[in-house]
Amino acid sequence: MKKLNSDQLRKAYLDFFRERGHAVIPTASLVPENDPTVLFTTAGMHPLVPYLLGEKHPAGKRLTDVQICVRTGDIDEVGDASHCTFFEMLGNWSLGDYFKRESISWSFEFLTEVLGIPKERLAVSVFGGDEDCPRDDESAEIWKSLGLPAENVFFLPKKNNWWGPAGQTGPCGPDTEIFLDTGKPKCGEDCTPACDCGKYLEIWNNVFMQYYKDAEGRLSPMEHRNVDTGMGLERTLVTLNGYASVYETDVFDFAIKRLEELSGKKHGEEEESTVAMRIIADHTRTAIFLIGDVKPVSPSNVDQGYVLRRLIRRAMRYCRVLGVEFEAIGELAMMFVDKYGAVYPNLEEGRARIAEELETEKNKFAKTIEQGLKEFDKILTHIPVGTFPGKTAFRLYDTFGFPIEMTEELAKERGYVLDRAGYEKAFKEHQEKSKAGAEQKFKGGLADGGEQTARLHSATHLLNYALKKVLGDESISQRGSNITPERLRFDFNFPRPLTPEEIKAVEDVVNGEIASASPVVCEEMTVDEAKAQGAVGVFGDRYGDVVKVYTIGHSKEICGGPHAANTAELGKFRIVKEQSSSAGVRRIKAVLE
Ligand code: ALA
Repeated sequence: MKKLNSDQLRKAYLDFFRERGHAVIPTASLVPENDPTVLFTTAGMHPLVPYLLGEKHPAGKRLTDVQICVRTGDIDEVGDASHCTFFEMLGNWSLGDYFKRESISWSFEFLTEVLGIPKERLAVSVFGGDEDCPRDDESAEIWKSLGLPAENVFFLPKKNNWWGPAGQTGPCGPDTEIFLDTGKPKCGEDCTPACDCGKYLEIWNNVFMQYYKDAEGRLSPMEHRNVDTGMGLERTLVTLNGYASVYETDVFDFAIKRLEELSGKKHGEEEESTVAMRIIADHTRTAIFLIGDVKPVSPSNVDQGYVLRRLIRRAMRYCRVLGVEFEAIGELAMMFVDKYGAVYPNLEEGRARIAEELETEKNKFAKTIEQGLKEFDKILTHIPVGTFPGKTAFRLYDTFGFPIEMTEELAKERGYVLDRAGYEKAFKEHQEKSKAGAEQKFKGGLADGGEQTARLHSATHLLNYALKKVLGDESISQRGSNITPERLRFDFNFPRPLTPEEIKAVEDVVNGEIASASPVVCEEMTVDEAKAQGAVGVFGDRYGDVVKVYTIGHSKEICGGPHAANTAELGKFRIVKEQSSSAGVRRIKAVLE
């Protein structure tokens, strides 16, 4: 097997698929565009949803990229050998072009010939079938025809071999997953790649997207069939190099080494400090990618900003466990910028801001701890020595961002025992409440391709245009957008609240554009042409891509769609709220009536 590092693996993958007719496209932002069903980009397919649903992609029908992803669902697993909150996904797509045979054959060729994995070491799983979709014998036969022994082809249920949608609605389908067989003995009779005994390590997932899942959970076949694949960069590096964990790969080893120096402890020797080093390294890496994103995230109390805040504070909490200063985070952050800056230039550009945001958050947290400690001692005067109530611990967590481990420690110092079960219960209740709220809030969304969301999306472009015009400020740009069938939400940089007159003027400009009954025009052009025409949007500057530019009335934006056909369809635009979102960022909510 070839012992590649991260740069070599990225290059080998993109070269391989470029040679097979795929256009290399740049990574998209970690903050999904117009998909309110999730906070972060979680897979390479996610930014491609409109194209998987049939919109034409300007770069063609075969695409490949390295997509940066954040998944925080497994945050409690971080600290083990493989779970990370940030990762890079290598992927290739067919948009209504090739299907199972080419996809599987190319994966096989890349793994065996480019990466040098002996075919005997490969094991795969394919979809075992259920009432919605038949067993995937076709994929199984293709694998066998390539020389995989039948006993290395496993049929598994939907739980294991079905992927998507990325949000609550969207494209999905059966998949075939590819694993490296480590050669360890089977853990039992029914040992399969689905069990986590460590015999099989997952490398790649090829999804055959044939279905669309709607908000009611119904599956319907899609007109054109797609292939969506994803290979985890870090995990593949572990596999190829025979490492024990992702922290030995070149994207982490320098950070762990520095933490070893600072703490005088050795990674891998003792569990508590090993886990702490891993959490600090993982969370710091994720934080720099979020702050340095093309749509920068700042720590806050809502949405992406809230997750970022929790990651930074959790990393700080583990600095205490490891016995290193909070400053370690700032230092590691700069090391990660050094490491990734050439691949993701926005990190290099954001270097100073990343350092500042981390420093500000550190100071805020230090203050929080101080306030929390005062509150803590006040609380203690009301409860008799003995049990520290879980509900109170949750309140400290919720209001002061007090990590539970810290409350536990402090309680112990003062002769109390924390009611951990009570805390977990309060936490769970809160989670269920906010989940229910989120589901309510996120029902629908642009990912569902509905007409009303398309209209609100067009109105968002007009709003973006109107803000610049009314406020006379060309430096205003979009910081976030979130659309549900009921309303649009738009974040933009501006230092102060808008006056009632300005809000009215913005509404008038948008309604004027609507009244002009202009057709919505979509054109494909190079990034340079789009820039020359004054289009706004996120420019991918790495590959000289062709992009789609939507002209809607006087607005011109780089965008993937979908949109209304004519501004006349939009009805009447009304701003229902204008508020602060985070420092220097305003948020507008608006509706079409
Ligand atoms: N979208 C698929 C995954 O994330 C490839 O596994």
